Amino acid sequence: MCEENINAAPKRVLSCIQPSGMLTLGNYLGALKNWVAMQEEFDCTFAVADLHAITVRQEPAALRSQIYSTYAILLALGIDPEKNTVFIQSHVPEHTALSWLLSCNTQFGEMSRMTQFKDKSAKHPENVNVGLFSYPVLMAADILLYKPDFVPVGADQKQHLEIARDIAIRFNNKYGDIFTVPEPYIPKAGARIMSLQDPAKKMSKSDDNQNSWVAILDSKDDIIRKFKRAVTDSDAVVRMADDKPGISNLITIYSAVTDKTVAEVEREFEGKGYGDFKLAVGEAVADTLAPIKQRYDEIIKDKKALETLYKEGAQKAEYVARKTYFKAMKKVGFVL
Ligand code: TRP
Repeated sequence: MCEENINAAPKRVLSCIQPSGMLTLGNYLGALKNWVAMQEEFDCTFAVADLHAITVRQEPAALRSQIYSTYAILLALGIDPEKNTVFIQSHVPEHTALSWLLSCNTQFGEMSRMTQFKDKSAKHPENVNVGLFSYPVLMAADILLYKPDFVPVGADQKQHLEIARDIAIRFNNKYGDIFTVPEPYIPKAGARIMSLQDPAKKMSKSDDNQNSWVAILDSKDDIIRKFKRAVTDSDAVVRMADDKPGISNLITIYSAVTDKTVAEVEREFEGKGYGDFKLAVGEAVADTLAPIKQRYDEIIKDKKALETLYKEGAQKAEYVARKTYFKAMKKVGFVL
């Protein structure tokens, strides 16, 4: 290893999660578990993207409790607020402020092509608000303020990260070197977890069928019941295969929570029926989530301590965000 590498500052990572409803096992295995791992290697900034949540209607009391709950889950998972910057997006006003500068440098046409906007406006035709349309610009501001080298995103957010890169490049070309152009971070092990009731669909908390998803905070009984009811096929062989999406999804989940390879899982359940396997998956998931839930229950009880942490997080975040924001303002020609 060369000297430079040893002394180099750790690379910066940024990601955010929306506080819309319960976080699921899919969020955990697909994204959050990686956040926990990344803090060992990178300088991480993580936020609860509460401003993004109101692009769809939210009941105020529910939104408030979900913001608390999402922040507390991040801590319960083991994300260290001392080592990283962990904050609530709306506490740092530079996000909305920078998003205005970026909006005026983003074309209507390119926003119109965003597939998530098309999907969401089709799903909520009664509330196709301007925020829903410009959501990717706010997301670009979230990212660019902190100059991250990497942004871990799932497949559904890749297009938004692309546009954030385009906006950064264009802005830099026009006004000078202001933003870092971030790379997508594809984690080594990020599992795509599907619905337990319809394995063709991604596991989602917005699914009306409650049996299709497991919440990080579900009780052991609920978790086991949901896995027992998981949709499988009639072949009764525990094997990963394209024509066995239900079982394949369960194998993916079991492998992710036990850190066993797919081959090891298949061997472990050779000659055993689906009943045994589903129970084993349910128990392994419940065992993984139980300590998280236990820590969460402790953390959420102490609102004062939580408040201290999110306020400190916001201060740390704003220190970085302000610098980038004012630099951008100055370059655009505003009087400071
Ligand atoms: N839009 C993302 C989602 O719904 C959340 C998000 C907001 C985000 N700002 C971000 C993700 C910045 C990565 C970087 O999942």
